[in-house]
Amino acid sequence: MITKCLFPAAGYGTRFLPATKAMPKEMLPILTKPLIQYGVEEAMDAGCNVMAIITGRGKRSITDHFDISYELEHQIKDTSKDKMLDGIREIIQKCTFTYTRQNEMKGLGDAIYKGNVLVGFSNPFAVVLADDLCVNPEGDGVLKQMVNLYNKYKCCIVAIMEVPHEDVYKYGVIEGSEIEDGVFMVSNMVEKPDIDKAPSNLAVIGRYILTPDIFDVIKNTKPGKNGELQITDALCEHAKKGMVIAYKFKGKRFDCGSVEGFVEATNYFYNLEQAKN
Ligand code: UTP
Repeated sequence: MITKCLFPAAGYGTRFLPATKAMPKEMLPILTKPLIQYGVEEAMDAGCNVMAIITGRGKRSITDHFDISYELEHQIKDTSKDKMLDGIREIIQKCTFTYTRQNEMKGLGDAIYKGNVLVGFSNPFAVVLADDLCVNPEGDGVLKQMVNLYNKYKCCIVAIMEVPHEDVYKYGVIEGSEIEDGVFMVSNMVEKPDIDKAPSNLAVIGRYILTPDIFDVIKNTKPGKNGELQITDALCEHAKKGMVIAYKFKGKRFDCGSVEGFVEATNYFYNLEQAKN
């Protein structure tokens, strides 16, 4: 059973400066909900009830968001605004939130490694990068699709999507053989490759299922691209010894770490709301 979901949220979000100077990128709202709440809802929908968040300096509002605000509750009680907190109240009631800090931004691999105190060494766990906002209007959420696949293959899984060749340098890119429709056995992974050296245009996005043996692999992985400990490098190493699967998910992903993707997501959700009314 996968019940724990790790949210690396320690990054600086420099692409959103000055907005992210004193506010975490993960708290930027798409309409009225912060990015990280969308991620938590996706994780709940996939069966998780422990949300393990890797924070850093200046990220306290994430902790406050997933806690009761008594003053606010008192203020809006018996007003029309009361129901606006229904969603977050349900999350707080159903989930346990745990936190640890990544003191230095040494990369996503390092952030995930720091999560071992929260997710433990006995069970597989999910990882969600909240700035990748995923939706699947036609069925199961992306993480739920991955949990279902985990139940079949019992190994590490990364979510992938096809990107234009000229964009591969922005992503971790996989090489592998398709073993069933949309499911690839990974043989190689490269973080942010040069366009002419990319093994494919299948790019890893911010959804992972990891088995706890990954912690040992990360511990022995050297810093890679940009001097950061890359989860891509650890997973590439893991793929050589065991099994790593890449899954072409069904649905849509918005790169809300970029202004363009953030605006696209805002328009998408706004149009969805308008269609409802
Ligand atoms: P990004 O590189 O997209 O995030 O990392 P960033 O550094 O916050 O953003 P920019 O590029 O400066 O605008 C992907 C995810 O990994 C987390 C980030 O918080 C983000 O969710 N991360 C990255 C960490 O938690 N720790 C790190 O050392 C690096």
